[in-house]
Order: sequence, then C-alpha cells, then structure tokens
Amino acid sequence: MTPETMRYVAATAAGGPEVLTIGSTTVPRPRPDEVLIRVRAAGVNRPDVAQRKGLYPAPPGASPILGLEVAGEVVAAGTEAHGFEIGSRVCALANGGGYAEYCVAPVTQCLPWPKGYDAVRAAALPETYFTVWANLFLHGRLARGETVLVHGGSSGIGVTAIQLAREFGGRAYATAGSDRKCAACVGLGAEAAINYRTSDFAERIAALTEGRGVDVIIDIVGAPYFERNIKCLAMDGRLVEVATQAGSKVEALDLFDVMRRRLTITGSTMRPRTTAQKGAIAKDLREKVWPALDAGRAGPVIYAVFPLDQAAEAHRVMESSVHVGKLVLEVAASETPPTPPSLPRFVVWTARSVAAPASRATLRPAAASHGHHPQSAKVARRGDRHGSRCNSDADRNCSLHAPAGAGPVGPTDVRG
Ligand SMILES: NC(=O)c1ccc[n+]([C@@H]2O[C@H](COP(=O)([O-])OP(=O)(O)OC[C@H]3O[C@@H](n4cnc5c(N)ncnc54)[C@H](OP(=O)(O)O)[C@@H]3O)[C@@H](O)[C@H]2O)c1
Repeated sequence: MTPETMRYVAATAAGGPEVLTIGSTTVPRPRPDEVLIRVRAAGVNRPDVAQRKGLYPAPPGASPILGLEVAGEVVAAGTEAHGFEIGSRVCALANGGGYAEYCVAPVTQCLPWPKGYDAVRAAALPETYFTVWANLFLHGRLARGETVLVHGGSSGIGVTAIQLAREFGGRAYATAGSDRKCAACVGLGAEAAINYRTSDFAERIAALTEGRGVDVIIDIVGAPYFERNIKCLAMDGRLVEVATQAGSKVEALDLFDVMRRRLTITGSTMRPRTTAQKGAIAKDLREKVWPALDAGRAGPVIYAVFPLDQAAEAHRVMESSVHVGKLVLEVAASETPPTPPSLPRFVVWTARSVAAPASRATLRPAAASHGHHPQSAKVARRGDRHGSRCNSDADRNCSLHAPAGAGPVGPTDVRG
C-alpha cells in the first residue's frame, strides 16, 4: 500500500550542502506513460550539485526535487506504461525527484537491475550509462579499434566511458587530477592515464599515439582544454563536449584545422532530451550494454553510500572531488537479497577510502561483500598494480583502495 506522504531531500534555498534537509511531501502520481518507483537507492551526480546551487533549475514539468537516477521496485503504473509489472525491480533515468522515497519515471526510461545487482549498484547506472552511450557512441561514433581520450577519467562519467570503450573494442586514454586517480583509471582498463596537474596531456597524447592523435575525445572541462583537445584529434576526429566545468567560451578556433583534419565538434546534454529520445537510448543500453553488466564485464564503481538524511555529506564529498566513481544515497533497505547473490561487485570502495573533508561517521561501507571483477584480475596479470588479493591488509597497498587525496574543487558545471 503506497502512503500519501514520503520523506525527501528538500533544498530549503539555493546554496551550499547545508541547505539539504529532510522534508515531507506528497507521493507523486504517475502520468499515463510513467511508473511509480519505491526508491531503494538514488545516485548522486554533479548536475545535482549545480541544481542545489540554483544554477541548473529543473526543466518545466519535471519534479523540482533533486535526483536524476533511482533503483527500486515498481509500485504503480500509468494506464499507458507497459513493460514492467508491479513489483519489478528497475533502475530509471528520472527527470528529477530521485532523492525521495518514491519517484516517478517514464516507463521507457526504466531498465531491469542487471543480474546479481542490489539497489545501490543499480542506482549508480542510469545517468552515466545514458550519457556515455549517447556521447561516446551516438555522437562520438567510437568504432572498434579506435582510440578515445576520456577527460576526468575517475568521474562517474569517466569510469563508465573507460569501461564501455573497452567493452566495445576501443582503446581509452584518460586524464585525472592525481596519481591515485590515474592508477584507478588504468585499473579500470585505460591504456594510460595522464595526471593533468603534473603533465601536459596534449604532449603525452602525442607521445602515446606516436603523433597520430585520438579518434574521439570525451571532454568535461571545456574552454581551457579546447585548443589542446583540437591538437590531440586524429584525422576525422570527434570532440564531444559533455560538460564545461572550467568555462564554455572559446577564444580561438582555426577553422582550417577543422577542414584539414575533417574534425567534428559536438556535444550534448541529457536532461532536456525528450522521453522518446531517452527511451531510444534505454533500448540501446538494454540490448547492447546490459549483457555486459549481466556478465560482469563492466559495472559501477561505488565510492561511498550515504543514508538519505545525509545527502548534504554526499554533496560535500562530491564537491571535494576526492571520489573515484559514484556516490549513492540509500533510501530504504531491500527486503530480499538480489538474485543471484554471489556475483562479485566490480570494485567496491569503502568508507575507509574517503579522506577529509568527508566525515567518516556519515559514511558506511558500500556492502559487506567485497570482490573484484575478472577484468581487474586481467589488468593484474598485465603486471599492473591491482593485485588479485583484496582484503583489509592488501587494500592498503592496492591502487584502487589507497587513501584518497583531496584535490582542489573546480568551478561547477551546470549541465547534465
Ligand atoms: N552532458 C550530459 O548529459 C551530462 C550528464 C551527466 C553529467 N554531466 C557532467 O559531466 C561531468 C561529470 O559528471 P559526474 O557526475 O561524473 O561528476 P563527478 O563524478 O563529480 O566528477 C567530476 C570530476 O571532474 C574533475 N574536475 C572537476 N573540476 C575540474 C576542472 N576544473 N578541470 C578538470 N577536471 C575537473 C574532478 O576530477 P579530477 O580530480 O580528476 O580533477 C571530478 O572528480 C560533470 O561536469 C557533469 O555536470 C553531463
């Protein structure tokens, strides 16, 4: 029985994380094409931070409540919402409203939990998988055998881009803001990762590709990288702008570079797309990507899990940029374990991994189980840093479990 009211994360005003408090509001009703989901977990994304600051208001018709992705079970359906029965476990790209006990989403934006997933892992999927599919494969047209440079390789978006590039036969290079994050990118399958604070990524890409350049760039930095991004592109290269965290106004572009190397400069935002467009991406994901998740060849990297009433702390961690992968809010515990329960997690980051400024009291391990995906073992066999043992002692020496070093916080991008 669905209650009349629910708990949700209210943003009392535009501002810092402290504006996020728990409130009570009416449970939303699904429109004809929507389902109502009892939320077990909700992903946290950079665009939520921008929305909290008042820089990225919800589009017309969307819930003003924060939260773009959820996992839970369907408890009600609109008259035209077909495809998932009541009780089905789904994860959904929501148009808003995820930081709450109940959330509506168009049924076409829902996907089943991959095999062996729990709510936390399922909730960490939609926003980055929809975004990366659209930008890396639809706009960026990454083809088998091609190379991609993923800026911000340790971000939620970057982690997914590295894994999917590999899954579809591409070769990824990444940039990140610390050696620890670079090691994590390589552990996830990047051929090489460049610490942009200590080396010039354009010079490194030229060296790594013997002057050829890369076929695709997924950029989240924007204007300050534009000139060097153009330099890094191979013939017929595609630059895909996913975010402009450090500025969007480009001062100079030599059009002759575009002509001579037949370059494409493109980009996109996910949230304003129509339900039909998002539904088409969901269909692609289910057919082409979900089998890789079911088989454990790719999956989310969970950095930390917070209870719903500590959404402010999750935002603090996100803004500190210490994290690798995803931050997730756990809204309600699942009543039954996922099936099958034995599939190891891809990579699990625990509260121990989170350094200041996050308060450890507010964090808890992502899960009791602690495993690694075969892909990690493959990387280890290549002589890399990520050993196959992973217990509390080994963790201290493991690149994917080394203590985080907080880096400076960049200007906030407002798109998503
Ligand atoms: N277009 C779309 O549809 C769409 C959808 C979702 C998200 N996004 C955008 O994609 C970006 C990543 O999102 P996310 O949720 O994955 O965020 P995230 O996990 O918080 O990662 C963002 C990362 O960007 C890096 N960064 C921050 N400021 C930077 C700067 N000035 N220069 C270089 N790197 C910087 C940081 O890593 P380092 O320590 O390596 O610097 C940070 O960890 C965000 O900007 C978000 O708004 C776009």
